[in-house]
Amino acid sequence: MVGNWKMNGNLRENAVLLKAIVAGWHGQRNADVVICPPFPYLAHAATVLSGLDIMIGAQTVSEYEKGAYTGEVSAEMLADLNCKFVIIGHNERRRMQRESDLQVAEKFVQAQQAGLIPILCVGESLEDREKGMHLQTISRQLDAVFDLVDKSMFSNAVLAYEPVWAVGTGKTATPSQAEEVHKYMRSQLDEIGEDVRILYGGSVKAHNAEQLFALSDIDGALLGGASLDADEFLAICKAAE
Ligand code: G3P
Repeated sequence: MVGNWKMNGNLRENAVLLKAIVAGWHGQRNADVVICPPFPYLAHAATVLSGLDIMIGAQTVSEYEKGAYTGEVSAEMLADLNCKFVIIGHNERRRMQRESDLQVAEKFVQAQQAGLIPILCVGESLEDREKGMHLQTISRQLDAVFDLVDKSMFSNAVLAYEPVWAVGTGKTATPSQAEEVHKYMRSQLDEIGEDVRILYGGSVKAHNAEQLFALSDIDGALLGGASLDADEFLAICKAAE
């Protein structure tokens, strides 16, 4: 279960949210739970959550190791701040920051080299979905990473299927749409496909989480809006038990 706070919150609001999560937390036996705050709040969240079985992740990382890249944050720096995970290739960054498939693949490499677990996001636009080209888009996004790393490296990675048209829109992919893509992604990973964790992201809320988690190819969720509400977030974590 991964909560992506995106560019939300401040010290005061985060303290309230984290306090409510800590208060309602009863431990998680069956899932890894990760919270991904914005960069400036990583250390604060890590401190508040220390002692709980909730890990910290970042929302992106530089494709470079270090050097004159003003404003960028390296994978080593994230590892230094006790991050365990990093989201890579989120559709908002692919679209708004124009991150290319190659850059996403380079970020994947940097993350793994620093000992972080990349959460690689893939997903099609509404246009691709309507043209029936969704699997081609997923395939292109995955192939860019396969070009740089051996598929076996995915045993230390998480995949997330986020159809662009379902993110923040209230529209969720139907169970059969999500299952089709998740199965396809497993098939692209050859023999390790069955063991790789594949999350679904896009308007997952407490009311639809259980139905999604019941599907055999959906291993968890990448949450946006729902991760900003402690009750909603805790209820979704509970649905994963
Ligand atoms: O990264 C999570 C995300 O993009 C899904 O957002 O708000 O639709 O749950 P949301």
